[in-house]
Amino acid sequence: MAEGARLLAIGVDVGGTGIKAALVDVKTGELVGERIRVLTPIPSKPGPVVASAGRVVGRLIRAANAAAAAAGQPAPRIQGIGVGFPAPVINGVTTTAANVDPEWVGFEAQAAFTKAFRRRAWLVNDADAAGVAEMRFGAGYGKRGVVIVLTLGTGVGSGIFVDGRLVPNTELGHMEVNGKDAERRSSANARVRRGLSWKAWAEDLNDHLKAIDVLFSPNLIILGGGVSKKADRFLPFLRVAGPIVAAQLRNEAGIVGAAMVGLERETEMVREERAVAEHAAAEPEPEPGPPQAETAEAGG
Ligand code: BGC
Repeated sequence: MAEGARLLAIGVDVGGTGIKAALVDVKTGELVGERIRVLTPIPSKPGPVVASAGRVVGRLIRAANAAAAAAGQPAPRIQGIGVGFPAPVINGVTTTAANVDPEWVGFEAQAAFTKAFRRRAWLVNDADAAGVAEMRFGAGYGKRGVVIVLTLGTGVGSGIFVDGRLVPNTELGHMEVNGKDAERRSSANARVRRGLSWKAWAEDLNDHLKAIDVLFSPNLIILGGGVSKKADRFLPFLRVAGPIVAAQLRNEAGIVGAAMVGLERETEMVREERAVAEHAAAEPEPEPGPPQAETAEAGG
């Protein structure tokens, strides 16, 4: 397909363990060119993480330009950049830091990524981003009612959708289940950290899912994150009333969803800026008023 016909955006997925990014064709949900993954710096303080994401985005843009040049095509037009981050994001500020350095609490993260990328970045919770992609291109496609997407990774993230619309920044990973922060037992990391069999871990996950089921009676639960590609090892052990399925976009959902959010918000912003500029241009010059009397203070 000619580059001109594509809607391209960059999706960055910042995790407690790795930072992943790719150029995404937002119309199809497909990654274009290489996917880059680097380890999240330790400690995961804002400065080094943002700088690392900045280098990754720089590499992606250079690679995309080089590929286009090699094919004799113009450089691709990248129409947005979205960043998924493992914390709630309110007005561009990250408000908690369960699996990253505590310095992220109350940090102006969106502004910091924007500075590092040297172009406007849009920040979104990582599970919300993954959910957006799963609803558009994966297991949630066309699903109405209440759909809950859970990402099982370093922590547990949640995206809740009502008739396809996202309710942002829900944190179902931090419900209290059996007296503990739920993700301490039901994340993919918890299984590895505690050396559990898939079946034993599925018991803990089941308790978490049952608690969610009681509170929300969802029409569908979608389980995502890296472990979703091994869903056959644990799905058979889950005994929750409603339907549960594995995510289809697997580990790419976070990147694809971040790109989708980046493109959508950038488009809205550009439209708004254009409307403001047109309004200002259409405004008649103000009539010159009577000469203003000089005030005593003005002279000092
Ligand atoms: C964070 C969430 C995040 C999830 C998955 C949780 O610990 O609180 O915001 O979505 O991990 O990364």
